[in-house]
Amino acid sequence: ILIVLLLGSIAPLQLHAASFNESCRATVDPPCQALLAYRSSSLSPTIANISSLFSIPVQAILAANAFSPSDDPSARLSTGETLRIPVPCSCAANGQRSGNTTYTIAPGDFLFQIANNRYGGLVTIEEIAAANGIVDLDKILAGQNLTIPYPCSCRGNSFGGRDALFMAYVVQDGESREGFYRSYNLSQEEFDRLNPSVNLDDLVVCMCVACRARFNRSALDSNLTVASGGYAITANGCVQCNCDGTELHCTRAPTAPRNCSLGCRNSRLQIGNFSTGANSSGGCTIESCLYDGYNNRQIFT
Ligand SMILES: *[C@@H]1O[C@H](CO)[C@@H](O)[C@H](O)[C@H]1NC(C)=O
Ligand SMILES: *[C@@H]1O[C@H](CO)[C@@H](O)[C@H](O)[C@H]1NC(C)=O
Ligand SMILES: *[C@@H]1O[C@H](CO)[C@@H](O)[C@H](O)[C@H]1NC(C)=O
Ligand SMILES: *[C@@H]1O[C@H](CO)[C@@H](O)[C@H](O)[C@H]1NC(C)=O
Ligand SMILES: *[C@@H]1O[C@H](CO)[C@@H](O)[C@H](O)[C@H]1NC(C)=O
Ligand SMILES: *[C@@H]1O[C@H](CO)[C@@H](O)[C@H](O)[C@H]1NC(C)=O
Ligand SMILES: *[C@@H]1O[C@H](CO)[C@@H](O)[C@H](O)[C@H]1NC(C)=O
Ligand SMILES: *[C@@H]1O[C@H](CO)[C@@H](O)[C@H](O)[C@H]1NC(C)=O
Ligand SMILES: *[C@@H]1O[C@H](CO)[C@@H](O)[C@H](O)[C@H]1NC(C)=O
Ligand SMILES: *[C@@H]1O[C@H](CO)[C@@H](O)[C@H](O)[C@H]1NC(C)=O
Repeated sequence: ILIVLLLGSIAPLQLHAASFNESCRATVDPPCQALLAYRSSSLSPTIANISSLFSIPVQAILAANAFSPSDDPSARLSTGETLRIPVPCSCAANGQRSGNTTYTIAPGDFLFQIANNRYGGLVTIEEIAAANGIVDLDKILAGQNLTIPYPCSCRGNSFGGRDALFMAYVVQDGESREGFYRSYNLSQEEFDRLNPSVNLDDLVVCMCVACRARFNRSALDSNLTVASGGYAITANGCVQCNCDGTELHCTRAPTAPRNCSLGCRNSRLQIGNFSTGANSSGGCTIESCLYDGYNNRQIFT
């Protein structure tokens, strides 16, 4: 059966549910933001493990799940614990939204276990084989790098008139539809609109209410979108933006350097309204301004 599926899907990269078939203009549309619901397997990974599996910084994973920036990323997750992974969703050469990451095969790995345990079923064996030109599913070598495609969609970050992020979710055996609708605040009609023709597939799109920034259009984070209850760290670690379900509230990040000029990590960015500088009593007035995005050199206020 595997061989037949493999031959059937070897040509262009096909993701395993039509719900993720979002077209885009290759080379024109920039990557957009999406989420994966990552369910921890019996391998009990740590946040640091997940960070390297998806090439997403630990801080971004902590933020999306409303964990404190000082939480220990080497603590193990319990089996079945589900985290939101914020991922970039690119426009692939075939004109469809998709994402991918790289996995270095560990000794003793086999494809079934990579797809289902390490990546929590977000990718199938057939998709890994197709993305890497693997013909013999038993022949993979430790140390070899695999491209791991993952499903994603952005849909304009809007749903039913609200700002939203869309998340790929692997439905678990025995999970009730009603429980799923409830946890994602969806009616059946909305679910069907998000997932037309979902019948065989175990992979669905769900919607997370989010806050979308409306920063200066020339800012690198002009489209920053944060799921409700979480936050994002932006401007190279200088600024934290929280989403309360309605709008973003951006302030200096607790992990940003605490001094008057607030030079930020690995960059020449400075927080604040620099035309004012120090106030007359020798203190700083720099945190009073509204954050409006950043570019390579400057934070807009
Ligand atoms: C994906 O969408 C494109 C056009 O938008 C269509 O041609 C193609 O058949 C669709 N593929 C699937 C698997 O639905
Ligand atoms: C997670 O990371 C730790 C330490 O880096 C490593 O020893 C362990 O094998 C990793 N676990 C998984 C499931 O990848
Ligand atoms: C993987 O993603 C990158 C962009 O992040 C893209 O340029 C590349 O074509 C993708 N590779 C595959 C095999 O889809
Ligand atoms: C695999 O990828 C890692 C980083 O993603 C890189 O350091 C390593 O050299 C690659 N290995 C091979 C065999 O290409
Ligand atoms: C569902 O709605 C509640 C209350 O409005 C909100 O707190 C929660 O974050 C929402 N869940 C999702 C997944 O959007
Ligand atoms: C946006 O930033 C640019 C600098 O890149 C600036 O010239 C422009 O005035 C800003 N626009 C607004 C509305 O602040
Ligand atoms: C923000 O989104 C708009 C339209 O959705 C797009 O044209 C623009 O390129 C995006 N900006 C960035 C920095 O990705
Ligand atoms: C503030 O911190 C930055 C970066 O850590 C440093 O370069 C700068 O000298 C500091 N400024 C003051 C006034 O301490
Ligand atoms: C000047 O800065 C100090 C220290 O940050 C602050 O306590 C004081 O309120 C500021 N004064 C004005 C007028 O902003
Ligand atoms: C930034 O500084 C200028 C000049 O001192 C001042 O007019 C302006 O109101 C400040 N903007 C904000 C948002 O604090």
